[in-house]
Amino acid sequence: MSQIQFDLSNVLADAIGSDHGLTMEELLADQARCSAALAEIQARRDKDLRWLDLPYAQDVLDSILDYASSVNGRFKNIVVLGIGGSALGNTALQSALGSPFHNVEPPPGVARLFVLDNIDPDLVGEFLDHFDPDHTLFNVISKSGGTAETMSQFLIFRARLVQHLGEEGHRDHIVVTTDKENGVLREIVEREGYESFIVPDGVGGRFSVLSPVGLLSSALVGIDVKGLLKGAADMDKRCQNEALMENPALLYALVQHKLHEEKGMPIAVTFPYSHRLANMAAWYAQLLGESIGKRLSKSGEEVFRGPTPVSAVGVTDQHSQVQLYVEGPFDKWFTLMTVGTGDHEVKIPQTPASFRDLEGVDYLGERSLRELFQAERDGTRIALTDAKRPNASIHFETITAHTVGQYIYMMELAVALMGEFYDVDAFDQPGVEAGKVAAYALMGRAGFEAERERIESASCATK
Ligand code: PA5
Repeated sequence: MSQIQFDLSNVLADAIGSDHGLTMEELLADQARCSAALAEIQARRDKDLRWLDLPYAQDVLDSILDYASSVNGRFKNIVVLGIGGSALGNTALQSALGSPFHNVEPPPGVARLFVLDNIDPDLVGEFLDHFDPDHTLFNVISKSGGTAETMSQFLIFRARLVQHLGEEGHRDHIVVTTDKENGVLREIVEREGYESFIVPDGVGGRFSVLSPVGLLSSALVGIDVKGLLKGAADMDKRCQNEALMENPALLYALVQHKLHEEKGMPIAVTFPYSHRLANMAAWYAQLLGESIGKRLSKSGEEVFRGPTPVSAVGVTDQHSQVQLYVEGPFDKWFTLMTVGTGDHEVKIPQTPASFRDLEGVDYLGERSLRELFQAERDGTRIALTDAKRPNASIHFETITAHTVGQYIYMMELAVALMGEFYDVDAFDQPGVEAGKVAAYALMGRAGFEAERERIESASCATK
């Protein structure tokens, strides 16, 4: 089984010069700081950072697989109702490990997957007009068990199910993933008797993709969830090593922090050269942004820290963003996600005789799309390097559940370690909570009257 590889050659001063690149000596000089950060995070493994142990939750895996096999073939559609960390991983896994046209033609007996992570009425209303209550299973996901977007969607689709299937009949069409005791969603599970799964303690929203939050919908559409966890466990073992050059999560976190704080690059661009990995970059954008973007340092000092995550996809964004990346300000560094081989080889046919004199197409004849794709990718890498832009690569020999599991675990651990380097709490999200509270107040929720008064008297009050 192949290991994903983190290659930082083009981040180094040897490749791009010392104005924008880091030297090996500079990196290795931070070994002691890295060892301390790793020890700090690993020491919390059995306490508040239980997500570190998700790859080993065999009982949870068994219960997910049991449930998936008990409903196998019964539903044509699985619908995830959730948002943020309760949805992005689901989409990322399905894109990475399912066919891009899964919902057009799912494999025999396998359900389609829809992730409704927005309450825009033009999305939800359209879905309501089209969904088939008889053949649809809803997985309602909320760690807090009270997020307004998810709960409103739940009420809407529950009502439609009850109308069509009756009070008793609708219950088999809902499976909930939430906290084991807190939140109104858990209370509803108790009252209605819905099937449910637990988001364990010590597993925050954006660190929850390897819990039932991401695994259940994946298992329901035939993704190899066991392989995902195996990949994550393998990366965990690799990242127990405190030697900086042997530990990809530690190295990634350090490179991110140094390029930002020492080389003035606040923008982190994740650039998968893979259609299948495009939504992994979106998942990482949330993980990085929500974890490290903080007003306060750990000691409570106002610091306004955080890199800005950007996701692009190759080759598409070569014709959109690359001009800026190669010639714009020196405020970005890049992580290319590269892939060795895939499931498909598409051959470009021999150039027709009538075009042979046209060099503009003749050179493409009898080559493969992968050759062209990889040439475009390498071309971008060369252009970035020539323009002295730091660009690392995370290489997947193939995209499998095992390599994707490794990537997820590596990035989760890297972001946790960045919290140590940036000196912020990587595991809270007061900015997100502030928006939730304001929305509750505007909706007239009991208990939020004071916040409503504050908003109404403030100059920013909405009309
Ligand atoms: O990472 C996080 O904590 C957030 O993005 C949450 O996942 C998001 O706000 C949804 O919260 P919940 O799962 O509680 O509904």
